[in-house]
Amino acid sequence: MRILVTGGAGYIGSHTVLMLLEANHDVTVVDYLSNSSEEAVRRVGQLAGREAAFVRADITDEKALDDIFEAHYPDAVIHLASLKAVHESVSTPLDYYFNNVAGTIALLRSMERHAVRTIVFSSSATVYGDHNPKPFTETMTIGAMNPYGRTKEQVENILSDLGSSDERWRIAILRYFNPAGAHPSGRIGEDPQGTPNNLLPSIAQVAVGRRETFMVFGGDYDTRDGTCLRDYLHVVDVAEGHAAALRYLERNPGVYRWNLGSGEGTSVLEILHAFEAAVGTPIPFVITSRRAGDLPAIWADPSAALTDLGWCATKTLAQMCEDHWRWQKNNPLGYTVAHQNHI
Ligand code: UD1
Repeated sequence: MRILVTGGAGYIGSHTVLMLLEANHDVTVVDYLSNSSEEAVRRVGQLAGREAAFVRADITDEKALDDIFEAHYPDAVIHLASLKAVHESVSTPLDYYFNNVAGTIALLRSMERHAVRTIVFSSSATVYGDHNPKPFTETMTIGAMNPYGRTKEQVENILSDLGSSDERWRIAILRYFNPAGAHPSGRIGEDPQGTPNNLLPSIAQVAVGRRETFMVFGGDYDTRDGTCLRDYLHVVDVAEGHAAALRYLERNPGVYRWNLGSGEGTSVLEILHAFEAAVGTPIPFVITSRRAGDLPAIWADPSAALTDLGWCATKTLAQMCEDHWRWQKNNPLGYTVAHQNHI
């Protein structure tokens, strides 16, 4: 197939593009590089032994999207481009709604004009909000708690309405839990710009000496060690989830939702200690106050993805930490020296 990947230079995007190239698909990456690097696309090409086409464009620019569809005539779209920092979304909600919601509408309108009606959309476990019991299953009512989460929820609703309006649409909504790790080559991985928000990059930057102390956000939760539980899964498994969803859509029109998670909750301290085992030395940490908006424990029921897609998370916590560490150790400043500014 010819597949357009928005956000294909990013963390999940680069691993997904690599997997698609290895499966012999032709890939066009569209990325605005606001939190990603073209170097990732170059390295993916090296690893795959064949290149993805790259276009720097903003998904809110419908004219640019039309040009891309006319130049690359994709059969399907994997839509990952999105802003994703929760705290930032609280202070700049319009940027989030414009990029994530208006950008997706622009993309869908352009797809419709070019008769491309197959899309895999990157959603998030955050849409489940705080009212549902754990584990989260796809049939639960959703209700996100912050602007970022609501952009994902709104796009899910738009996709659902679109699927109802025209039975030719083939739509997969993937609700990621906590992607972690890096490609085992150590050549591509997560490279957040500025201070990282997410757990693994925060630990890894302390381990590599870019930051002094890792901060555990809250040690007084009602969990087995007092720290929050999340459902971590290896980014290579996440990439495989996209390929599996595309294969399913080839056979089945309609709108589908799947959790991508391991089905297990792991605590912040358990991750920290697994990372220390991968590094081979202790990592300095302090337990600080809770982060606003964090839920004590979140994990997926991933059984629908197994039943429908034959997909499950295959890689262990130790592999996630070893692979993430190899990437961080080999690329202490990420993809570019420009990142020195952020140390
Ligand atoms: C967060 C977002 C979620 C988003 C996801 C992907 C919140 C409340 N949730 O998920 O909506 O989809 O990122 O970007 O922001 N932790 C520390 N110290 C750190 C960093 C994290 O203790 O320096 C803890 C957090 O408190 C949390 C766990 O590690 O308990 C995982 O954090 P994170 O990686 O940010 O993921 P989520 O909070 O699950």
